Amino acid sequence: RTLDDLTDVAGKRVLLRADLNVPTSDGKITDRTRIDRLCPTIRELANKGARVVVCSHFDRPRGKRVPEMSLAPMAEALSDALERPVGFADDCIGPVAEAAVAALKDGEILLLENTRFHAGEEKNDPAMAAALAKLADVYVNDAFSAAHRAHASTEGVAHLLPAYAGRLMQAELDALQAALGKPARPVVAIVGGAKVSTKLDLLGNLSGKVDVLVIGGAMANTFLAAQGAAMGRSLQEAEMHATALDILETAKDNNCEVLLPVDLVAAERFEAGSPHRTVSAMSVPEDMMALDVGPETVRMIEARLRGASTLVWNGPLGAFEIPPFDTATVEVAAMVASLTASAGLVSIGGGGDTVSALRHAGVLDRMTYVSSAGGAFLEWLEGKTLPGVAALGG
Ligand code: 3PG
Repeated sequence: RTLDDLTDVAGKRVLLRADLNVPTSDGKITDRTRIDRLCPTIRELANKGARVVVCSHFDRPRGKRVPEMSLAPMAEALSDALERPVGFADDCIGPVAEAAVAALKDGEILLLENTRFHAGEEKNDPAMAAALAKLADVYVNDAFSAAHRAHASTEGVAHLLPAYAGRLMQAELDALQAALGKPARPVVAIVGGAKVSTKLDLLGNLSGKVDVLVIGGAMANTFLAAQGAAMGRSLQEAEMHATALDILETAKDNNCEVLLPVDLVAAERFEAGSPHRTVSAMSVPEDMMALDVGPETVRMIEARLRGASTLVWNGPLGAFEIPPFDTATVEVAAMVASLTASAGLVSIGGGGDTVSALRHAGVLDRMTYVSSAGGAFLEWLEGKTLPGVAALGG
């Protein structure tokens, strides 16, 4: 059920589970994507006359009140983004929260303090869920990015109040459905990042669902080494060689083409501008390390993309934070953006540092959809049921 089904909301108290776990540095918000994407749901509810009570976790205070992890500064950020006042309550349950909610008028917005200041949140304690439910008549979950956590505010409370998906939750689920539910074929997946070990389930699930699986980033080194390549000083996981070979075997059984790098950009040091050259993916010199996939590999990826109808992208192809080892990621991203605009490619990205990589490549707004979720996006791609989504009946 979405906000379309929530017609008679005027005067009602709506508990809106948001994900305001935004990146910060020295107490300053460094990326407002999650805040901006939350605004349509808040505006819609407030415009319909609901009394909007926003709750969220922030960071990992582990059941304690940690002042640096207060959501208080987020009320101002939210107010700036919405261009309307947002109140703040110094607790998310109990008398303080109850009094603040009771003082709300129709169309007003209140942000509650960090849900994780209470140990009951992460334990999905029924008492915590009941205390949250007491604050509202209706529950709306817009925190897809926290939906992989079965916590009181993401799961427990959804069973105690009429529960609906917010607009951001709806957009995330629609995009993922388009990518892997009943996708237009062929489907290409690009998976990068450092470690095979953290993406085993992801690779396993994707190899049964997509037509082409492109493996880049440092995790490709592990696959290449497992096939007998000399990887020099490249990052790789020697203990994952057998697993990597198993993944390749499974993909073959599923008729999924796995595209591994055929050339690599190897450098002397893990540093911007370090001396580097393009080498065969089978023989990285002993004193060098692979930091990006090479130009021939980029051409091969681009050829697969030209024939694709759907793309799922998780993880950069190289060490994109240190130029020029961002080259492959930037070039492939540019091609994805252009095919999305001109050839109707459905391009979905998300998870981990994919958003930073796509922002760095300047294509964040030029893909069909980029998820604001990290772990939840990955778990969805792994084929897992997300408790926060399941609790909405989805
Ligand atoms: C995220 O940023 O991925 C979500 O907010 C979940 O945060 P967590 O990993 O601390 O549960």
